[in-house]
Amino acid sequence: MRKPLMVGNWKMNKTITESIPLITDLTEFLKDYRKTEIVICPPYTSLWVARELIQDSNILLGAQNLYFQNDGAYTGEISARMLQNIGCSYVILGHSERREYFQENSKDIARKVQQALDFGLKPIICVGEKLKERNEGIAQKVVKEEVEAIFSILKPLDAGRAVFAYEPIWAIGTGKAATPRDAQDMIKYLRKLLKDKYGKKTAEQVRILYGGSVNPDNIKALMAEPDIDGALVGGASLQADTFARLVKYNDSNGLI
Ligand code: 13P
Repeated sequence: MRKPLMVGNWKMNKTITESIPLITDLTEFLKDYRKTEIVICPPYTSLWVARELIQDSNILLGAQNLYFQNDGAYTGEISARMLQNIGCSYVILGHSERREYFQENSKDIARKVQQALDFGLKPIICVGEKLKERNEGIAQKVVKEEVEAIFSILKPLDAGRAVFAYEPIWAIGTGKAATPRDAQDMIKYLRKLLKDKYGKKTAEQVRILYGGSVNPDNIKALMAEPDIDGALVGGASLQADTFARLVKYNDSNGLI
C-alpha cells in the first residue's frame, strides 16, 4: 500500500516573517494527522525557520531545487549536502518552471536526481506536457522522453525512493485541473513505464503525484483514482486552512 503524499510547493512565495504564522497554523491544523504524508517546500530562505517550527510534528521538509555539485565556486547555488544538513527529506526537481524559465534540460535534471539520492534526499521528479503538445496528441510521447532521461541514470536500487509528479503545464496556476480520468490515464502510463524498466514490485511501490490547480474541492475525485498517490500543490498550499483541508481530503470532519 502506497501512503498518500501531499506536497506544498510554495514556489517564490513567503518571507520568513510570512512563513512563521503559516507553518505554525499548519502544525496546529494537522496535529497528529498521520493518514497522509505531509511535506512543505518553502523557499530556501525559510527552510531553517520551517525546520525549527515543524520539529516533533508530522510535517516533513522539502526544497524546490538543488545544484548537482557538492560545493565550490557556483555562485547562487545550493547543494544536496546543504539541504540534507538543514533537515530536508525531499527535493522537487525538474519542475516545468525551472525547465522553462531557467533552461534546465533533461541531462541537468537527471544529474540533480542522482545527487539528491546520493545524499539521502527523495527526489520529486516533475514531468508534464504543454497544452499544444496535448492538443497534438503527443502528451504521452513528451512524458515518456522526460521520464526516460531520468531512467537513464536512476539505478534499480534507487528507483523505489523516487517520487514522480505528473504536472501538465496547462493545468499549473490556471484553475483548470486535469480531469481525474486524464490524470489517471497519464499516471497509469507512467507506472507502466516504471514497470517496464524496473519491474512490477518497484512500479507498485513508487508514488506518483498529480499537480496542477489542485484544491480542497477537486482533491477527493483525483485521489479516488487508483494510480494517483497524492498531489503537488502550488497556490492552495499558501494558506494553512486550505492546505490542511486538502491534506485531510478523506475525512468528513476534516473541515478546519
Ligand atoms: P498550482 O497548484 O498553483 O496550479 O501549482 C502546481 C504546481 O506547479 C506545483 O508544483
